[in-house]
Amino acid sequence: MTLISKIKEKKAVVGVVGLGYVGLPMAVTVARKGYQVIGVDVSQYAVEHVNAGENYIGDVDDDELAKQVKNGQLKASMDYSVMKNADVIMVAVPTPLDKYQQPDSSYVRASVASLAKNVSPDTLVILESTTYPGTTEEIVAPAFQKEGFEIGKDFYIAFSPERVDPGNKTYKTHNTPKVVGGVTPKCNEISKIFYEMVLDAPIHLVSSPAIAELEKIYENTFRNINIALANEMTILCEKMGLDVWEVIEAAKTKPYGFMAFYPGPGIGGHCIPLDPFYLTWKAREYGYHTRLIELAGEINNDMPGFVVTKAAKILNKQKKALSNSKILLLGAAYKKDIEDMRESPIYNIIKILEENQANFDYNDPYIPSFRSELTCKEYHSVDLDKLPEYDLVIILTNHSSYDCEKIVKKAKLVLDTRLACNGLESENLFRM
Ligand SMILES: NC(=O)c1ccc[n+]([C@@H]2O[C@H](COP(=O)([O-])OP(=O)(O)OC[C@H]3O[C@@H](n4cnc5c(N)ncnc54)[C@H](O)[C@@H]3O)[C@@H](O)[C@H]2O)c1
Repeated sequence: MTLISKIKEKKAVVGVVGLGYVGLPMAVTVARKGYQVIGVDVSQYAVEHVNAGENYIGDVDDDELAKQVKNGQLKASMDYSVMKNADVIMVAVPTPLDKYQQPDSSYVRASVASLAKNVSPDTLVILESTTYPGTTEEIVAPAFQKEGFEIGKDFYIAFSPERVDPGNKTYKTHNTPKVVGGVTPKCNEISKIFYEMVLDAPIHLVSSPAIAELEKIYENTFRNINIALANEMTILCEKMGLDVWEVIEAAKTKPYGFMAFYPGPGIGGHCIPLDPFYLTWKAREYGYHTRLIELAGEINNDMPGFVVTKAAKILNKQKKALSNSKILLLGAAYKKDIEDMRESPIYNIIKILEENQANFDYNDPYIPSFRSELTCKEYHSVDLDKLPEYDLVIILTNHSSYDCEKIVKKAKLVLDTRLACNGLESENLFRM
């Protein structure tokens, strides 16, 4: 039976390497379409939870995962040898930056090295991790060629970026359009058939993995730079005594040529703050300096400091100093309604608050406690009932569960960095 017929007849076994925010929703999406799915992860926590039918990712439905595991459609292992049975394998391992802000491709290298020793001929491997243009052909393909596979003949490799937006209620893994770039035309053909079978979204083929790799970074850079522009407008509006949110609302009325992006206390998550720097690094190989990306990074990185300065000004007006005020930070996650704290602006905000000897606590309904590497301390979410005790409440994340009317009513002072209190007017409410 050919690989294409196995995929079309749902006889193909699908492997997913890396069962995190991207991999687990993908594994469940594929199993939902009737395929047998095996996941591999180096994390014992992930593997044990999947095999126990216990969900740990916000975008995955608890009951659906439990049912798929119970039916034997989805299982996980820490042992790569299970991939010998897989016909299509998606790789969704982390792609962070190292301490020098350079791409850390060690997870991609480690996972493909393990895979290359544990795959059978006639398998399609698709890298879904966000990475710099060239990764698939420079790192992934050679790992399999070294084991004797001929790409496009007895083995197929493609890159297809994952675009999942955690917490998005409309666009999920299954209905987000997919871009695919195969190493050869045959790799493209098989990948397209596969994604058409497992997703309910259009598949857009491009001519090479590098185009697909770059388009993903372009998407995230577009977002990063536009957020930086909104943040720069905020800094300027503060100086000019203008309300940036009103400016954005007005600009939004233009039906073409403008797209609204919003300021915030800084950018977070595993993607937007990091991915553009994958490109910056690669561009150096071509003697090009990605100035706009670096500048946007600088502006976005200044926002935690901007928030704390604004907080100090608000307290000053009440003849209070940052150093002997009690501050409550609302929201530790980098965006609303999720429990993900990766690169969250709160880390830098608490670092600056600590440096200024400020007394502070935080509340986040999704994050009962966390440890910050920047301050080497552990923090515990406090009860919202304590809100009136604080001199200033700073809204960092606009979780839907926050009742802003109640917050503004009960708090002595509120600094809203997210327009969470939109429509509310009060003397004690300040917008960023
Ligand atoms: N989180 C997002 O919103 C998002 C969206 C689009 C794209 N991406 C990209 O997808 C990729 C994965 O991101 P994520 O958020 O799912 O990360 P994650 O940390 O949530 O999950 C990655 C998983 O890979 C596992 N892993 C690490 N090394 C491994 C190895 N050698 N073998 C097997 N498993 C291994 C980890 O244990 C973890 O469970 C990244 O490149 C990221 O940039 C993420």
